Amino acid sequence: MSVKFAVLGHGVVGSGVVELFYKNKENIEKRAGTEMDVKYILDLRDFPDSPYKEKFTKDFNDILNDDEVTAVAECMGGVEPAFTFVRSCLEKGKSVSTSNKELVAEKGDILLEIAKKNCCNFFFEASVGGAIPIIRPLHKCLAANDISAVAGILNGTTNFILTKMYNENMPFDEALALAQRLGYAEKDPTADIEGHDACRKICIISSLVFGKHVYPKSVYTKGISQIALDDVKTADSMGFAIKLIASVRKQESGKILPAVMPMLVPYDNIMSNVSDVFNAALVSGDGIDKVMLYGRGAGKLPTASAVLGDVIDSAKHKVNVFSQSWESADDQSFVDSIESFTAKWYIRDAEGSRISEKMSFADAQKLDAQACIPVLE
Ligand code: HSE
Repeated sequence: MSVKFAVLGHGVVGSGVVELFYKNKENIEKRAGTEMDVKYILDLRDFPDSPYKEKFTKDFNDILNDDEVTAVAECMGGVEPAFTFVRSCLEKGKSVSTSNKELVAEKGDILLEIAKKNCCNFFFEASVGGAIPIIRPLHKCLAANDISAVAGILNGTTNFILTKMYNENMPFDEALALAQRLGYAEKDPTADIEGHDACRKICIISSLVFGKHVYPKSVYTKGISQIALDDVKTADSMGFAIKLIASVRKQESGKILPAVMPMLVPYDNIMSNVSDVFNAALVSGDGIDKVMLYGRGAGKLPTASAVLGDVIDSAKHKVNVFSQSWESADDQSFVDSIESFTAKWYIRDAEGSRISEKMSFADAQKLDAQACIPVLE
């Protein structure tokens, strides 16, 4: 029997899914244990020069109503119409694999529940860390652990920009434009620069690890738009790299504290060496101590690789993978406030630049400083 799947969206990631699938079709079919093919590609635009032009449709119902299509790769981005399309597919028992972190961070609990009820899967390996396998390790390979924290560089665009500023003195805007040309940035790069993309990813990780849906609105989020080149250089001379860190940790109170903010990473911390578009996540657990996951965090084929891994899994597993799910949580009181965060801080004020003693987030905000950036422990 042959598995037919559809690809929703033919942008950077969607076109990468089709390209990588046909490049490696023979191996993919061996690994899936079945013949596979792309039956439809959904996009409102025309692609008259595409070698797959006969597969294009502008009508989602062609896919929804075709019983031969048992798996769908959603690569459109944004909450709507992606949510409506994905929900409809899952209700018909078609497994969905998505790269859309906004969708998972906002609606993951609902979609996971629908998938469970309809004996299919809502997979989202590509939604965090691009090419890096992180979702499966967290709920499968590391399932025996009590995970106490995950901290990572989860946005390729900002890491690329910070690396260019650091290595090449490249102005922020120029580095951003280059990231956009390379297909790393979101449609609206504000989501990258202001930390919203990393926030969605840490929400997904937090929900998966701690079992309750964490919404982006519950997470303190600060991006890199206020990072000055001088601070990057001064931090370097003090032995630190400035990185946008997305993290979640279990607090003594039992609550969890997710946050996204630029941090000074000491050079003896392996994450300080994660450069360019690469992402990394450091997972801490009682059995493993620490495990580091590292790879390309954005881009066409790296992200397509993760989407296709999920599509192959959909072809192989006709049962719901229940370990990859979490509960809805209207009550977000299990998420701690950033006020409970304490750290040493890099401070630049009228007196110059220095690293402070440990102080609370609230006290650090009261300082009359031009720059105030926490140090990662
Ligand atoms: N804009 C995202 C990034 C794409 O730069 O990491 C991958 O999620």
